[in-house]
Formats: sequence, structure tokens, C-alpha cells
Amino acid sequence: MNNGTGGTDQQSETRWKEEEYFYPSKEFTAQANLNDKTVFERFTLDKFPDYYAGFADMLTWFKPWDKVFDASDAPCWKWFTGGTLNASFNCIDRHLAKDANKTAIHFVPELEEEKTEHITYQELYVRVNEFAALLRDTAKLKRGDRVTIHLPMVAEAPIAMLACARLGLVHTVVFGGFSANACADRIVDSGSRVLITMDAYYRSGKLIDHKGVDDEACALAAENGQKVDTVLVWQRYPGKYSSAAPLVPDRDIIVGDELKKYYGVRVPAEEMRSEDPLFLMYTSGTTGKPKGCQHGTGGYMAYVTAMSKYILDIHPEDVYWCTADIGWITGHSFIVYGPLSLGGSSVIYEGVPTYPDAGRNWRIAQDLNVNIFHTAPTAIRSLRKVGPDEPKKYNFKFKLMVTVGEPIEPEVWRWYEKEIGKSQAVIVDTYWQTETGGFLCATVPGIAPMKPGSAGPGVPGIHPAIFDDEANILPPGSNKAGNICIRNPWPGCMQTVWGDRDRFVSSYFGRYSVSSDSKDWRDWPYITGDGGIQTQDGYFRVLGRTDDVINVSGHRLGSKEIEAAAMTVPEIAEAAVVPIAHEIKGAEPELYVSLKPGVAASPEIVKKVADAITFQIGKIAKCRNVWIVPDMPKTRSGKIMRRVLGAISNKGDVGNVMTLANPEIVEEIQKMVNNQK
Ligand code: WTA
Repeated sequence: MNNGTGGTDQQSETRWKEEEYFYPSKEFTAQANLNDKTVFERFTLDKFPDYYAGFADMLTWFKPWDKVFDASDAPCWKWFTGGTLNASFNCIDRHLAKDANKTAIHFVPELEEEKTEHITYQELYVRVNEFAALLRDTAKLKRGDRVTIHLPMVAEAPIAMLACARLGLVHTVVFGGFSANACADRIVDSGSRVLITMDAYYRSGKLIDHKGVDDEACALAAENGQKVDTVLVWQRYPGKYSSAAPLVPDRDIIVGDELKKYYGVRVPAEEMRSEDPLFLMYTSGTTGKPKGCQHGTGGYMAYVTAMSKYILDIHPEDVYWCTADIGWITGHSFIVYGPLSLGGSSVIYEGVPTYPDAGRNWRIAQDLNVNIFHTAPTAIRSLRKVGPDEPKKYNFKFKLMVTVGEPIEPEVWRWYEKEIGKSQAVIVDTYWQTETGGFLCATVPGIAPMKPGSAGPGVPGIHPAIFDDEANILPPGSNKAGNICIRNPWPGCMQTVWGDRDRFVSSYFGRYSVSSDSKDWRDWPYITGDGGIQTQDGYFRVLGRTDDVINVSGHRLGSKEIEAAAMTVPEIAEAAVVPIAHEIKGAEPELYVSLKPGVAASPEIVKKVADAITFQIGKIAKCRNVWIVPDMPKTRSGKIMRRVLGAISNKGDVGNVMTLANPEIVEEIQKMVNNQK
């Protein structure tokens, strides 16, 4: 395991503080979709792969599948072969008989004076069909073609995705906030000749011009050999064009105008083979350009449907809100495909959680009667920072809350549970990846106790284990960190890297695969690329990407452990630790913290933080410096850019920071760090 600073020691001890259990309430358990404590007996490894048949049974198939699992092209597994289905049909058509008038999507515009749109399943059916007709007849797209979607958080995003799925087109959604360059890379790699976009959208109260970015993306893609011949432009305000970028003749089409030709048209849902690709989602690897993770139709749909039912506990009467962006895997699996496949009601909010003030989220929850809330630690930390008392002011009640995306510090977890969950909600910390389609580890909410900072055991069907460098499995409670691997295939896993099977095999299996031509799934453990430990109770604690682990004098310290320690100091709002090269020790941690509003920086706080780290972890985790910064450099999706902080600490090149949400902060921090050393 490379820790980014030259150390490769795999089995050093990890120190952490064991946390207390929290138990789901009796009321929650009584209504839970899964509360049978014997469930894991049905999902033991000796029953693989047949135990996944029940997941496929949650879907509607045009033609039933005949084989659960096909290993003939190992490790590019195929699921539910012989079967045919359509994802759009499963998310829409099959609900019409009973639930046509039920809300499928609540779209909440950022401006509070604009009313929420409640789109019923019937309305979704109409809109998806009409747009699919436009894609087929105006854009001349056919089954198997790739389409790039670059939309903000608006209802048109799921409509576009589901219209693609209806026709058997492979969508590749690019996060709305991505730059022209990132968008162009994805257009080129996926070979898309059609781009779906919107003129503008709201963010922090401003109408942001979006279409201009796409013109640039198309120009860059053309330079790299991929011509986009059709750009379909939705209008944020139908009938009014809100972008300064001129329309390009013979290329750009205003969707609202063109759609009039297709009013009332219905498009049959293509009968897709289970293993046909549904979408690509690009994600960064450790090296090289982003990989197009290819997800299939039957396996993926079965997996996200089952996970939405068992882990998110979505019932027909629930209102579910996941604050992720549709441009990430969480949005695909758990705003669109999973919840809609179950016939749930899913909320889409256009803007930022703090616009116009820190109470916005809670007003949305209150007004829509949201009872399942799904967000990321980064959002929780920021809500805790800007409005710790806001949740109390509103009348909402969550039965379940979800966290995803990064390890959550126990301190932050407890705040989430107490203040947002009002000490009544069950929390599921879901550990998974773009590649995995759905959850790997999480506590089954109606069954298992929660433990702050630990994602939990593998979800039913998933058998994770900690591998050391020699592919030995470290037993639970060994107290040693290693690589989190999954011992068995599962239906939600990506099928391959788009156009690069070798990269798929080497990135995710290379290291531990027994022989490259084995057809036995047992020979192909999946490598997550995360470090973690498994405690005696079988729970996994994710330490972060393996390059986030800091190896100090042979002792492995999860950067998250240090951050969690810093977060126990009441004045601290956010903490980020980076490894700084050290001649003797290999690396030392260096810490950046930001303070809660109204707290002034002082040497006392620095000392408090240093003491907290020594207290929580030990002297071994002592940081070279604790820098109090006005804000962390962040991506537009809110992730702290530790890479940039690492470069500052190590006096390296910070790279291009212009795509950050706050590029100006980088120089400010650099000055602070350089001047004081
Ligand atoms: C991290 C997001 C700790 C992990 C779904 C993983 C987590 C990467 C958790 C994938 C969690 C995700 N606890 N760490 N609950 N969830 N991660 O592809 O490092 O954007 O490998 O998928 O996020 O990020 P991705």
C-alpha cells in the first residue's frame, strides 16, 4: 500500500477509539422493510450467487432471466443472463396502474419564491416519452449510442436519463459544475455526438450561465477528434433563453420548442438484455485520466432497488431526499434509479443548502414532509458550522438519515444524530464507490446497532475482508489496517472500464487475482483502494483511500483519525490533515483547521487541538503544525481538496486551482504557511 510519502508498510497497528453503539427504536424496527435478524444466514458465501435471485425478482422483466451469474468472461461478470428488461419501464411504467397520481419527483427551485413542482408518475411518463421521441427522431439516436448529459440539479436531469434508458442509449452524466475541459474529456472518451444541457441555473441566488461552458466543451472535444453535432438545450424558464452564449445554427436545438412536435407521442421501452450497458460514470483513479465506469442494466437495477428497499428503507408512503448531485453515482443510484424503481417520491433541490440562509434544508424537509434524508459528511460539517441551532427551529422528523462519501468523524456523527435526527432517527453510514453501483458496508437499519464512525459490516450479500499485502485476510479485531476487498462479485458492480478492459482488470483485481485466466469468482477479490480495519464485531472502519493513510515511523495513522480528534475541540468546524515528508519518520501529519463562526484564532486553540490529538490517539499522531485557516480549499461539490493542502505543506505545485469553489483561499493559505516557517 503506497501512502503517498514513500512508506509501504502494510500491517502497522492502527489506533482508534472504540465508540458506543446506538440502537434503532422499536417503532423504526417494527416498520422496517428488513427486520428479520436471520437475514444474513440466507446470504452466506456458500449460497453465492443464488442469493441474488431475490434482488432480480424486485424488477419487472420482459423476458425472465435464466442464469443468475455468468463467469465466462471473468472478472467481467454478467448477471441475470437471458433476461430482458428496461430501466425506464421499471422506474415509471410499472407504477402507473396503481400510482399514476403519486409524486415521483418533487423539484425544489433554489429561489424560495418559485414554487416546488410535484411531478407525478403519470406526468413523468408523458415527459420521458416525449423527450425520448425527440432523442430518437430529431437527434437520430439509436440503441447503444452514448449521450452526454451536462445538466444542473433540475427535474430535466432524471427525465433525460430515463428517456435515454427508454431507448437503450447509454447516458454519461457529467456533474453540472464541471469545467468545459472535464466535460470535453468525457464527450471524447464516450464518443458522444449529442449533448444535453440547459441554458442556466440558480446557485447561491445567482442565475449562472451554463450553456457557454458547453460551447467551449464542444470546441475542445472537436479538437480532440469528437464532433458534437447536436446540442439539446433545455431552458430554465421555458420560452425564455437565459444564456449569453449564442445558439449555434444547425447544432443547437431549444428542447421546449422542438418538443412541441412530439406532444402525445409514446415510445416503446426497448427490450434490453440484462447485461447491456445502462450508463457510464466517470471517476478519478490514482493515475491517468478519469475512467468511464460502465454499469449494466439488470444487475445494476436489481442491486440499487434492493439497497433502496433494505438499507434506505424506502416505503411507498415515504418522502425521500438525497442531497447528492445527479452528476455523481449517489445521484444516479439513490435519487433516480433506486427510489423510482421502488415507486418512491424523490426530492431534487436545485441549489445550495445555505441559500438564502442555513435553515433552507429544514424548511424543505418540513414543507415536503421528508422523512428520509441522505447527505454527506461534508454537508453535515458545514451545516453544523453555519447553523448549529437551525434544525431545532423547524418541524420535521426523519425516520432515517444516511451519510455517504467519506468517513464521518464520530463527533460529527453524534451532532447529526442529535440535532438533525432529533435523537429519533436511525443513521446508516453507507460505504461504497462509483465502481460498486450500490452499498458495500452499512448497518441494516432495522436490525443492527449503529456505531459512530464505522460504516458497519458488509450489507447482505457482500463479504468484505481486510487483506494484507500478501493477500492474507486479517481477522476481525486484529487491530491492523489493510486493504478493504470484497471476496465475492455482486450485481451492482461496474462491468468494465469503458473501452479499456485491461485497465478494469488491473485496477480492481490485478494485485490479488490468482491467475488471469481463472473462471472461478473466488480467485478474483475486488480491491476497493481503501484502507480500513475490521473490529471484533465485524464492523468496518474506513480509513480513507490508501494514499490518504499516513505512515509515521511505521505506525499507520488514518488521516481521518487525526481529523476526528481535532473535531472534538468545540471551536473547530472543519479539519484536514495531510502528510508532510519527513526524513526519518517517513511522514508527519500536518493539520489545517477552520473555526466556527465568531471564534477567533488563537495560540490557545492550536494547543487545544494538539492536546486533543495526543489525548485521542497518542503522541505518535502529533502534527508538525496546526494551521488555522479562514476556509478550506474546496471543490464545487464541497469536498476539501487535501491534495492542494498537501502541496502547500510540502512546498509543491498546487496545480490548477481555478476550478475550486474558492481559488483565492489557496494563495492566502500559502502565504500563511510560507511566512511562518
Ligand atoms: C470514500 C461515493 C468512508 C471511500 C459513493 C471510497 C467513504 C470513495 C464512504 C468513493 C463512507 C465513500 N465512509 N469513506 N461511508 N463512502 N467513501 O466513487 O474512500 O465518489 O473509495 O463514491 O469515497 O467515492 P465515490
